[in-house]
Amino acid sequence: MEIVHVSAECYPVAKAGGLGDVVGALPKYQHELGHVAKVVMPMYRTRFLYNNEWEVVHKGYTHLGSWWFNYTIIKEKTNKLGFDLYLVDIYGLLDREKVYGYDDDTERFTAFQIAVVDWIAVWNHHPDVVHVHDHQAGLIPFMFKFCYQYQHLQNIPTVLTIHNAQYQGWMGWDKSHYLPAWDNWKAGMLEWNKTINPLASGIRCAWKVTTVSPSYLEELRREANGLEALLEYEKGKCSGILNGIDSQVWDPSVDSYFEEHYTPAGVEEGKLQSKKILCDRFNLDIEKPLITFIGRLVGEKGADLLPQAISDSFYYIGRKMNFLILGSGSPGLEARLSAMKGLTRGDFNVYIGYDEGLSHRMYAGADFILMPSRVEPCGLNQMYAMRYGTIPIVRNTGGLRDTVVDYGDTDGYGIRFNYPSVGDITQSIWRAVELYRQTAVVGSIRSRIMGLDFSWESSVRQYLELYGGMIVS
Ligand code: ADP
Ligand code: GLC
Repeated sequence: MEIVHVSAECYPVAKAGGLGDVVGALPKYQHELGHVAKVVMPMYRTRFLYNNEWEVVHKGYTHLGSWWFNYTIIKEKTNKLGFDLYLVDIYGLLDREKVYGYDDDTERFTAFQIAVVDWIAVWNHHPDVVHVHDHQAGLIPFMFKFCYQYQHLQNIPTVLTIHNAQYQGWMGWDKSHYLPAWDNWKAGMLEWNKTINPLASGIRCAWKVTTVSPSYLEELRREANGLEALLEYEKGKCSGILNGIDSQVWDPSVDSYFEEHYTPAGVEEGKLQSKKILCDRFNLDIEKPLITFIGRLVGEKGADLLPQAISDSFYYIGRKMNFLILGSGSPGLEARLSAMKGLTRGDFNVYIGYDEGLSHRMYAGADFILMPSRVEPCGLNQMYAMRYGTIPIVRNTGGLRDTVVDYGDTDGYGIRFNYPSVGDITQSIWRAVELYRQTAVVGSIRSRIMGLDFSWESSVRQYLELYGGMIVS
């Protein structure tokens, strides 16, 4: 089977979060099962671009409304990632350093999608499935179906995976002319709540829709940032498939970001060495349990609750634990957390920024990872943490619910709480501190979670089954 993934991110080419990790791994494992998987993404100015060799496979000329532009498709020459990687170069629009965050992101990603469809339309063969990820690729199923010049693509099955329904790519109707001439009777296929909504359009027009965990699909029917009714209406074509993790990249016995490698058998010694390095660097007390947070500093992740939860923990439980935070996001929260450094007694530190290497070191050196997410479609951090023997403290939501069982429950191994509130977080931190004192229990949990299977294997099979069903019908 030949599958073309279209995405704004793909690790290690460009990553802003979990979407990049997933699109960097899923095609690789599809390829390993004997399928042809390709990834098409924008050409940003990233280190990966400059450090690799490329060949031009197509040059095209198309338009975004009245703005005509040239685009070039380049392909990485050596199959370095284990699948074919194509980048779309649109001069002046996509070739920037960051993935997102520009005023013209609407124009950037709409032009990207138009170029992808324009290229697929002249390819000398058609893929069996086009798998689009999130709203930055959500207009493609509509274009296949309703743009006059691409209607020969309408029989190509499409899958939309929703990684995060909070972001939908909304744009005003004044931008409807951006899309290549389309059947105006089908305006309803673009619209949701009076604006053009690329994610909603993808949900309507894709043949199948998946979410990145089964629980998230359930939750979306109740809370989907305005799309609840649509998801209820389209539920027949929706399914939840839990993400896996790339066990070649995320493996403490060979991790390329640090040297203190360890296996489940040597987890105690291995983690201690990694913890020592972290504690030395961040001026923390190695005797105390180290609780970390890694992620975007936004409300969705419950990051705004951290300052108060940390202060309350120190106040009510005592200064019996360390906190180390790695993240970036809301400027106000960044400032609040940075200011808290002044109050530390060798038990709190924060690194504001994005640092892939440090995140790997933290998964290895931490005792616990805290994820008080309000919304967590899947969440990869908890799975990475467990692979590194780090115990997750998570809110009971989305993919966190599907991957973490509370240690108080049968066969449990993590700490779960119900509400994204300061009180619930503080209570869970207290449980973590108490658990940490039971060295033997912690030891057995560590070896246990390192052995849990979060590999891509079963998810890849579920995707293949889904594709297979569309090709037959
Ligand atoms: P999301 O995609 O919603 O941000 P995920 O849990 O799916 O959440 O994935 C987050 C990914 O981004 C993980 O690989 C995590 O390690 C990484 N990450 C998040 N913030 C940072 C950061 N500041 N520095 C390094 N890696 C980070
Ligand atoms: C999104 C979600 C996150 C998920 C990731 C990969 O960024 O917020 O929960 O793990 O996509 O699917």
